[in-house]
This record gives sequence, C-alpha cells and structure tokens, in this order.
Amino acid sequence: MAGEPPLVDNLSAPAAYSGELPDRSAAPAVAEGAMRRFREIMVDVADLEWVDKTLAGLSHKMLWRDDETGASIALVRFQVGSGIPSAHAHASNQFMFCLAGRYTYRPTGITLVPGSFYWNPKGSVHGPTVAEEESVLLEVYDGPHYPTHPDWYTSAEDAR
Ligand SMILES: [Fe+2]
Repeated sequence: MAGEPPLVDNLSAPAAYSGELPDRSAAPAVAEGAMRRFREIMVDVADLEWVDKTLAGLSHKMLWRDDETGASIALVRFQVGSGIPSAHAHASNQFMFCLAGRYTYRPTGITLVPGSFYWNPKGSVHGPTVAEEESVLLEVYDGPHYPTHPDWYTSAEDAR
C-alpha cells in the first residue's frame, strides 16, 4: 500500500560499486513497523466443542469465517448413516479434505476416504450424500455456501 514501509528491507541487494555486502549487523531483519502487522492466530481444534447442526447426525467446528464474503473453513462430522438428503449446488467453490471415515456422493458413487481431496465447483449439482462410516471432513468454501436456504436445515445459521 502507498505510504507504508516495505515489510522487509531488501537485504540481498549487493552494496553499490564495492562488491561487498554492507554492514547490517545493527539492522533488524524486519522493520519494527512491519512487525506490528504480523497477526497470527492458532486454534487448538481439539479444545473446540462439536456443535450440532439442524440436520440429524451432522455437527461442525467452525475454524474461520469471513462474514463479508461468506467464505469459511470448518471441520464437519457426519455420524454413520447421516448425510445431505437432496441434490443441490453451492454458491461458491466447495473443497473437502477427508480426515476420517467414508463419505459417499450417491449419484456419482464418489467416496471420500482419509486423504481424499474433493472439489465441487461453484454451481455444480451433487448429492445426496451418505456417511458409510462416521466421517470427518475439512470443508472450505471460497464464498457463500448456498444460493438459497436449503430445506434440510431449520436454522439459517446452519446454511452459512
Ligand atoms: Fe454440497
């Protein structure tokens, strides 16, 4: 941004003309002003409680959400036999990384197992789904989750 100091000084530039590096022994690697811009947040996920959603068998741990864009990152857990009951599409790209279980998209027969990465492009129809085993998925949306409120949630909060 204009007017802000660079985040890190260019320490790798050779000294002009001499071929030797300048003495920077007294210079901090990162300017003090830049240090104030670092903001790191660590969540100990094991300490978060699973929060039930209004679809039987589904709970989640919301890890991050941008209320302006609707983007989010959450852990979702489906109990065995539960799943999303209807075909639907999302209002943004949806990404899933399976951490545990077996989670199947019925029409296509795609089954997520631990290590599977699944990408559901914005607007593509998928589902219904079923958890063949208790399944835990890291779920990422890059924008709002649904174009309209899905009828399997009675709470609007569960659709965001
Ligand atoms: Fe979906």
